[in-house]
Amino acid sequence: MKLRRWIATGVVAVATVATLNALPATAGRQYDPAEQSLRTLGQRHGLHIGTAVDLAVLNDPADPRYRQLAASEFSSVTAENAMKWESLEPTRGSYNWGPADELVAFARQNNQSIRGHVLVWHNQLPGWLTSGVADGSISKEELRALLKKHITTVVSRYKGKIWQWDVVNEAVSDPWDNPPTLHYKGFWAQHLGPGYIADAFRWARAADPKALLFYNDYNIEAFGSGDPANDKTQFVYDMARQLRAEGVPIDGIGSQGHLGTQYGNYDTLQVAAALKKFSGLGLATAFTEVDVRSQLTEGVQAGDSAEINPRLQASAANFSVLLRACLADRHCLSFTVWGFTDKHSWVPGWFSDPPEGMATIYDENYLPKRAYHEMKADLIYAGPPYVLPRVPHRPRR
Ligand code: G3I
Repeated sequence: MKLRRWIATGVVAVATVATLNALPATAGRQYDPAEQSLRTLGQRHGLHIGTAVDLAVLNDPADPRYRQLAASEFSSVTAENAMKWESLEPTRGSYNWGPADELVAFARQNNQSIRGHVLVWHNQLPGWLTSGVADGSISKEELRALLKKHITTVVSRYKGKIWQWDVVNEAVSDPWDNPPTLHYKGFWAQHLGPGYIADAFRWARAADPKALLFYNDYNIEAFGSGDPANDKTQFVYDMARQLRAEGVPIDGIGSQGHLGTQYGNYDTLQVAAALKKFSGLGLATAFTEVDVRSQLTEGVQAGDSAEINPRLQASAANFSVLLRACLADRHCLSFTVWGFTDKHSWVPGWFSDPPEGMATIYDENYLPKRAYHEMKADLIYAGPPYVLPRVPHRPRR
């Protein structure tokens, strides 16, 4: 009797599935995960899929597709430039909050989280600050006080609205810098010494106890196999461990993920191992600025598919390596692309000799590229049964 009931149930189930599969597209739509947005697919893992947003383009009525996709595909946004110091305080003491406020409103409208970028960086500082330091009219003491005021003012304004702040960005040198031994580089280390890093985290925490506080850098996607003394990932790891040991309120490590198809790059296991080491310190992780650029040879520019296809495929593979590594570590909370369309990407403006581009997941006409589909596939096929829901992180006390 039992057996007959089982068989009957099985027959009904098989018949139902067969009927559903046979239904013409017009007779009610079946669920197709490939038709879901990145943000929806990320939700299953508790993973935010984010993008950097250019506020000028977001507000351009002639380019409506940008705003539509920024809203529909992403569950987290980062201001590409609007929250940097030169944008917020172009003239000493007078703030331009407009574009940053607009991003916050956009995120709210679209139920998105915000990665605040960036509180302390040596680039895109206002001219009045750098020239004041250069001509001696701003002393070291005053500079430190100005940094504290900047962090306190900005973090307080957006208190309760920012999920993750990039508190300190790109503080560590690269092996190709001079001197080649890794060190704390740039304006802030030069004028205040490396102690500014711990100070910055403490000031940020005091202004918003609920935001997650990140250190953010590039070329830290994986540990190298050579001398650890020349390994930037190791340097950042040691720094984070030290900060944690001193009770500095750092909550996470942001790995930017600016890759290029002309380089060797990494495999998924190498990247997953690095994330795991960072999360072993009790820290959250995130990919914060992912893009994978390619050299635009004459062949590429002439439309030669034999040159274009391998670049599209290599780019997709690299997006996938970072995303799968992130999915594999429950402490990896978000995966943000640094712009989502080749129509608006920082890459061509920065790499012109030789020219580079093709770095994002949509082409210049907003058509999704192979990388977009590969990201979807990763989000779809990472479980079940292998699903790892994210571990929520709370700001440290
Ligand atoms: O706003 C001016 C505009 O008024 C002027 O007409 C135009 C002429 O060049 O320049 C505009 O400013 C540019 C700004 O982007 C806004 O578009 C700057 O020249 C340009 O240097 C700036 O580039 C930004 C770059 O950071 C500066 O360091 C890129 O958009 C931005 O994507 C990039 O982002 C950084 C992250 O913050 C940190 N990690 C690396 C990443 C890529 O470099």
